[in-house]
Amino acid sequence: MKKFHRMTLTAASLFFAITSAHALDGDAKAGEQAAAVCVACHQADGSGMNVPGGESWPSLAGINAEYLYKQLSDVKAGTRNSPTMMPFVSMLNEQQFKDVSVYYSQLPATEGKFDPEATEEELAHGEKLATQGDWDRYIVPCKSCHGPDNLGAGDAFPRLAGQHAGYIADQLYAWQSGKRDNDPQHLMLAIAERLNDEDIRAVSQWLSRQPAK
Ligand code: HEC
Ligand code: HEC
Repeated sequence: MKKFHRMTLTAASLFFAITSAHALDGDAKAGEQAAAVCVACHQADGSGMNVPGGESWPSLAGINAEYLYKQLSDVKAGTRNSPTMMPFVSMLNEQQFKDVSVYYSQLPATEGKFDPEATEEELAHGEKLATQGDWDRYIVPCKSCHGPDNLGAGDAFPRLAGQHAGYIADQLYAWQSGKRDNDPQHLMLAIAERLNDEDIRAVSQWLSRQPAK
């Protein structure tokens, strides 16, 4: 019982430590200018692109600014290894990281793209993982961290609803392989390493079909 209390306390303080919101000190106008080199992939409306079987470009529109800023910093630091993003991150200075993050966070969220052929069974399995998890396999439901409708929670837990299926799947594989090693307390590694290929396809297909706002 004592041990249980200690565990819930630790979980609660961790939650507060990583969800407390800050306002990022960036300028959206300057960010729009700096983002001119990003448009080729992330698109003028920030919607990105789903590339089936390839490397998808994430939607950035309406994603939390602190979160985007952290990702740019992590790519630069190498804890999120992206040969595609690295040259673009290298073009920007620290202030521009903040400016582009604020700019993209203020664009209206766009809807996700997915594989129209996903089956009803796959989608039902994906919904179960996202909303109820699978306690027999210690898979915590995505929504317990990513927010009630997977619309994001605070600065630390990004929105997944309406993100592209190809991108969600890519990132889960990136955690599995260690290519992405930037998650606080390895919260995502612990989830990703318990998911098999069917789980990854199902959950990414279901999440990408959910409303982004
Ligand atoms: C050649 C295509 C391309 C260009 C140009 C590009 N990106 Fe990206 N971006 C990507 C890809 C691919 C990823 C996913 C990287 C990965 O797999 O980790 C990504 C990821 C990101 C992320 C992380 C999003 C998240 O939800 O975690 C941010 C932020 C970002 N890009 C911002 C930018 C900015 C700002 C620029 C311009 C300075 C830019 N990108 C230019 C392809 C591109
Ligand atoms: C215990 C908390 C927790 C749970 C449960 C969780 N996540 Fe996450 N997730 C995180 C954190 C924290 C991050 C941000 C990591 C970082 O800072 O780069 C994240 C980021 C992600 C990202 C990257 C998004 C982006 O744009 O960069 C994806 C994809 C993702 N999670 C998918 C899932 C899926 C699918 C599930 C359910 C099967 C899930 N997560 C369950 C904590 C969690």
